[in-house]
Amino acid sequence: MTSKTRTNEEILEAVQDRYGRIAQNFQPELTVLNNASCCDPDTGADCCGSDLYDVDLSQLPADVTGLSLGCGDPIAIASLEPGQTVLDLGSGGGIDCFLAAERVGPTGHVIGVDMTPAMLEKANRNKAKLGVAQVEFRQGQIEELPVENDSVDVIISNCVINLSPDKTAVFHEAFRVLKPGGRLAVSDMVTRGKFTPQERADMSAWAGCITGAEDVAEMAAWMRDAGFAQVAIQKKEDLSVNLADVAPHMGPAEIFSARITAVKPGL
Ligand SMILES: C[S@@+](CC[C@H](N)C(=O)[O-])C[C@H]1O[C@@H](n2cnc3c(N)ncnc32)[C@H](O)[C@@H]1O
Repeated sequence: MTSKTRTNEEILEAVQDRYGRIAQNFQPELTVLNNASCCDPDTGADCCGSDLYDVDLSQLPADVTGLSLGCGDPIAIASLEPGQTVLDLGSGGGIDCFLAAERVGPTGHVIGVDMTPAMLEKANRNKAKLGVAQVEFRQGQIEELPVENDSVDVIISNCVINLSPDKTAVFHEAFRVLKPGGRLAVSDMVTRGKFTPQERADMSAWAGCITGAEDVAEMAAWMRDAGFAQVAIQKKEDLSVNLADVAPHMGPAEIFSARITAVKPGL
């Protein structure tokens, strides 16, 4: 394993390459390909897929559910209402955008942003199949969102922020585009403790949603620095503790799926 520190460009390229290949190779009738999810089975993480949802997904076609690469259910914590504008960071094949569209209804607006052209192509095909006019997919990076200031009610995201090489930029951008009083409702992989530089240089593990994951105390500090209030990070399997308030952990990284929520003050 190399110990070379990767540049942000190298990381984005490795991530885009992985998800481009997944989108290109995806065939809904071949369920074995659906194991090519964000969390690489080789790395021991078992956290991804459409079975993580609390809601009934039977209305969605296999083209959507089979390309579900998340690690949680952000819709379950987003409390969406009719007419709202929702932004999905790293929308992939679009599953959370389509679930959000049901909740915000025809008077709402859902924007999915993704940097990988092959994923956007799949998402747009799925949109045409479902006929949901209120969903729009935009190509772009979550570190530099193609979205206007103060224009979004709720930001959702499912297993994407861990992949970013510049998480402070992601939180600053999320804060910029939210309306005052707007909310962040994210499912993602985080850690207690830190991966070593050698582990973080492994691009396969990074793109597999493992070694890009950051310590909860660090994540909470970046969110507060961006301006967010009411920051909460909770283990998906144990919602009793707000890990945003715990001291940094010094041991080796323990990785888990979390619910991450926060508010842009102002209302
Ligand atoms: C693990 S998949 C999750 C997709 C989707 N959220 C889901 O739950 O199925 C990660 C997605 O995020 C996109 N992505 C990763 N890093 C990104 C970045 N920095 N900017 C924009 N999109 C990114 C990838 O192209 C990929 O489609």
